[in-house]
Amino acid sequence: MPVAVRPVTAVDDALRAELLACWIDVTNAGGAVGFVPPVTRDDVAPVLDRLLDGVRSGRDVLCLLTDDGRTAGFAALVGLTGPLRRHWGTVLRVQVHPSRQGEGLGRVLMEGVHEVARSRGYEFLHLTARDGTGVDAFYRRLGYREVGRVPGAIRVAPADDRDEIALVRTL
Ligand SMILES: CC(C)(COP(=O)(O)OP(=O)(O)OC[C@H]1O[C@@H](n2cnc3c(N)ncnc32)[C@H](O)[C@@H]1OP(=O)(O)O)[C@@H](O)C(=O)NCCC(=O)NCCS
Repeated sequence: MPVAVRPVTAVDDALRAELLACWIDVTNAGGAVGFVPPVTRDDVAPVLDRLLDGVRSGRDVLCLLTDDGRTAGFAALVGLTGPLRRHWGTVLRVQVHPSRQGEGLGRVLMEGVHEVARSRGYEFLHLTARDGTGVDAFYRRLGYREVGRVPGAIRVAPADDRDEIALVRTL
């Protein structure tokens, strides 16, 4: 089975375990997805479970990247419930397993996220990136543009505050 991205709205225990393992491995390899390394299951599991609560509620959807049926990465597409903001979504926790980074799968994942977002009626997407990681360049290549920064919003270590870069893309 080729590389694919599919929307997931029901997450069983087996998939939850794969998502948790991926997130831990990505973070411990230096990825900027809500933590700084090192992390353990105890750090990541509560944050994953909050994300999955949003998916179960029907508000959010998981975009699952698979290669030959095996989980290779994921992202969360988070919706807004307010009546004035139903036309846009937020992308969170974008990640490709470190064993598969640099092969074009991140691009495939984000193109899949865009398809899922269009199917849910979103007209544009918003996400944030941690300055100093270079990841904003990944998003710019995919059509996102920077619309602002919150200076020093992310404290990765004492005396090491990073800007949070806000990026948007029209679908
Ligand atoms: C960011 C991430 C999802 C990219 O996935 P990937 O599979 O490694 O990226 P791809 O191979 O699809 O790269 C697509 C393009 O983006 C570029 N790119 C990827 N990561 C980049 C980075 N960190 N800095 C600059 N450019 C980058 C690639 O060179 C490639 O460019 P091209 O289109 O000119 O060939 C992945 O590296 C990852 O999971 N990182 C750790 C988690 C993380 O930090 N997520 C971001 C949360 S905001």
